[in-house]
Amino acid sequence: MNKLLVSLVLSLGVAGAAHANQGDAEAGQGKVAMCAACHGPDGNSPMPNFPKLAGQGERYLLKQMIDIKEGRRPVLEMTGMLTGFDEQDLRDIAAFYNSQSPSLGVADAELAERGEAIFRGGNLETGLPACIGCHSPTGKGNDPAGYPRLAGQHAAYTAKQLTDFREGDRVNDGDTEVMRTIASRLSNKDIEAVSNYIQGLR
Ligand code: HEC
Ligand code: HEC
Repeated sequence: MNKLLVSLVLSLGVAGAAHANQGDAEAGQGKVAMCAACHGPDGNSPMPNFPKLAGQGERYLLKQMIDIKEGRRPVLEMTGMLTGFDEQDLRDIAAFYNSQSPSLGVADAELAERGEAIFRGGNLETGLPACIGCHSPTGKGNDPAGYPRLAGQHAAYTAKQLTDFREGDRVNDGDTEVMRTIASRLSNKDIEAVSNYIQGLR
């Protein structure tokens, strides 16, 4: 009896601790009022230079918000906006956006062929790996690994990120510099094509 009680208390304790580390989407919805102006009420930003957050992976979202808050990824438009949130708030916000459905985009047919070739096959000559290896064939990413969803994202935003990685203006991709290395192998035309292709992915 005693043993049973102890194991019950232990398992409840463990469950409780796990819960504290998880985001609560409903609580998160109550914390994003000031984000809606740029990212849309459901995380589907109407503006091509503001990223869609709907359906984005929780792990990736949390990392980006911590990086933005701590200045590792400077976002001028968001200056000071995350300072009032602790890590649990950010987990809740990540859970909220992750729970929303991303809106669909359309690709420019003229650019899609070159974009698809890069996305699915990379480029042997320049040593560029295929994007699908990490971001998945559908572009939905791999949340447990922290690889972001790309499918449906605004082409203008994606192109800016790839250019920023290439030029060293975005440097929060870790010690392996995975995206800085990949972007250094993309020409402006490659970036335009693959960003357009990604916008139409669903
Ligand atoms: C005034 C406009 C604006 C507001 C308000 C705003 N953001 Fe942003 N946010 C941006 C821009 C612009 C970027 C992308 C900057 C860049 O080009 O790298 C961004 C990027 C992000 C990203 C990274 C997305 C990705 O795919 O990497 C997250 C997460 C984010 N914002 C969350 C929030 C949250 C949460 C709030 C509210 C507390 C908020 N933002 C308020 C403009 C805004
Ligand atoms: C080896 C794994 C890997 C491969 C291959 C890869 N990526 Fe990434 N990518 C990542 C990781 C990890 C991040 C997140 C970096 C961070 O935490 O800021 C990322 C981030 C991105 C982002 C930023 C998303 C956002 O919302 O801001 C874009 C855009 C992107 N990758 C495009 C591409 C494209 C295009 C290709 C193919 C040419 C590609 N990636 C290939 C691992 C990869």
